[in-house]
Amino acid sequence: MSELPQENLKTHVSIKGEEKKDLTWEERIPLRKDYAERFNLSEEEAEALDYYLFYLGLDVNDLVGKKVLDVGSGHGNFKKALQKIVEIKDGEFVNFDVNIFAAELGETEQELDVSGAAETLPFKDESFDFVLANFSVPVMQFTGQELELIPKTLREMVRVVRGGGVIKIFPVGGEISTGSISYDNAYSQLLSIVMTELKKISLEKLLAEIKITKFSKEEGLYEVALQITKK
Ligand SMILES: C[S@@+](CC[C@H](N)C(=O)[O-])C[C@H]1O[C@@H](n2cnc3c(N)ncnc32)[C@H](O)[C@@H]1O
Repeated sequence: MSELPQENLKTHVSIKGEEKKDLTWEERIPLRKDYAERFNLSEEEAEALDYYLFYLGLDVNDLVGKKVLDVGSGHGNFKKALQKIVEIKDGEFVNFDVNIFAAELGETEQELDVSGAAETLPFKDESFDFVLANFSVPVMQFTGQELELIPKTLREMVRVVRGGGVIKIFPVGGEISTGSISYDNAYSQLLSIVMTELKKISLEKLLAEIKITKFSKEEGLYEVALQITKK
């Protein structure tokens, strides 16, 4: 198992690590049913709520009254769920994605607030309290082998979050088992690509803390979430 890369950043930014045991699919089912019943959520909304809260380490109350950017928001199910649980004012929570569903699939339910690419975010500097990316970037850029986009995306996220604001990303690599040796080996490199860029950004004294959460799966397998606090 590869070690989480921490040592080189210590002098520039505080790094905290934590380990969590991933819940199995079966363990999640009652949790999601409970969300769905309590808050009148669809299955998709309850699933998104579960993933965002668990992997990004969020509490819905943290987001109330805050400016939030959901990068790669997909169908926007997390926002839809949130709106049924707490009060979200217009413009506070921004669903952002490339416009693929509408363009290619003819779907109307994507519910985008702003469309575009994560590597060139169309927002002013320091305009969000939280920037979230759940199962979107950089992992999709990585699987598409658009590796040059990964550093750009990280820098864009740091640019648009305010000082003291927080970026939360899952996953940024780890050790997984998909049955494809080349894919699994490559996936373990994603974290080092991300940490190399974060090291450069931290040298520019833009970051206050990087928190690495390792979600353990069976037999030494794990995936990694990042929480980055801007200075
Ligand atoms: C697996 S979906 C996840 C959707 C949502 N975050 C969720 O967890 O339900 C990944 C999303 O990332 C978006 N995405 C991938 N690369 C992107 C990029 N470079 N810029 C913006 N969105 C991107 C895709 O269009 C897709 O909607």
